Amino acid sequence: MGVRIAGTGSHLPARIVTNDQLATWVDTSDEWIVQRTGIQSRHLLEASEIPSDMGVDAGKKALEAAHVLPEQVDLLLVATNFPDLICPGTAPFVADGLGLDSAPFFDLKAGCSGFVYGVAVANGLIESGLFPRILVIGIEALSRVTDWSDRRTCVLFGDGAGAALLEKATGPSAILGSALYGDASKSMFLNLPAGGTRLPASAETVAQGAHFLKMEGSGVFRNAAPMMETATLAALADAGLTLADVDWIIPHQANQRIIGALVRKLDVSADRVIVNLDRVANTSTASIPIALDEEIRSGKIQPGDVIVMTAFGAGVTYGAIVVRI
Ligand code: UT7
Repeated sequence: MGVRIAGTGSHLPARIVTNDQLATWVDTSDEWIVQRTGIQSRHLLEASEIPSDMGVDAGKKALEAAHVLPEQVDLLLVATNFPDLICPGTAPFVADGLGLDSAPFFDLKAGCSGFVYGVAVANGLIESGLFPRILVIGIEALSRVTDWSDRRTCVLFGDGAGAALLEKATGPSAILGSALYGDASKSMFLNLPAGGTRLPASAETVAQGAHFLKMEGSGVFRNAAPMMETATLAALADAGLTLADVDWIIPHQANQRIIGALVRKLDVSADRVIVNLDRVANTSTASIPIALDEEIRSGKIQPGDVIVMTAFGAGVTYGAIVVRI
């Protein structure tokens, strides 16, 4: 029968920072940010807040929506690029917060494609019979790795988490197709140089700002739309569908101009493309599940709707999944 998304949840920090507020921190303007990215505001964690707690809240909401108890979860898969701690990551803290009993958990690091990768992997694990119910959560606290004096990156990002509970399908609602890709020749497009085992954190790395996210913005920009186009068409072919069968496209929320380029390449109506980056900015692995959850809860996405979710990100990774809700 396949695998379905039985419930979703999301969490955004309470603190909202507008472009005008950002313009008091760095040399930028609301006009530049809106014109170049479409972003108007973002939610950012307070210094006292813990990133994994966003995932706990999103996960609780997904379990409630799916009518599944924490002890019924067979595996927790947390997609994140910047874990609470380098070791043991983020998943154990989320498992503890959710009260997952002795279910296994692990972090999956696949750039901003982490949620798409996670759902595709979870789909295979459920189909194999190994884990009947899997909670996939994308969590990202980009504000904690952003150089707030670098206007080229700091205006782009926000914090948040989004979750989906996957289980065996009992009706038409199902994951219909997927396509995952990597292009390791572009591995340094997005990177955080220090703090890993190649360049451990030291007074020098901190002085150099090497513990902040670095990005080759124009390289990412040029490749993003073609990659999401390739993945979308391949995932649809895997599902035996065409764009005419699709009700909604949820692209990774990085930049309105990238989404616009994807819309033109696919030749679809912009009305069928879900966008929330104006309010939440780029939340990396959390961007797609937050948008999915918001529009399921708003009623825009209805049971039976066919959705393509497509992403690209550090690695570089890219991919797409096709789902009937
Ligand atoms: O999840 C994936 C994560 N990353 C991305 O998705 C990023 C993809 N890349 C992008 O979205 C775009 O490349 C950016 C939004 C990052 C940059 O847009 P752009 O149109 O490629 O601008 P640019 O980098 O060519 O910069 C144009 C000018 C430069 O000034 P000069 O050299 O022409 O005088 C920049 O210094 O804009 C300047 N600039 C800014 N000005 C005001 C760059 N950032 C800002 C800023 N405010 N925040």
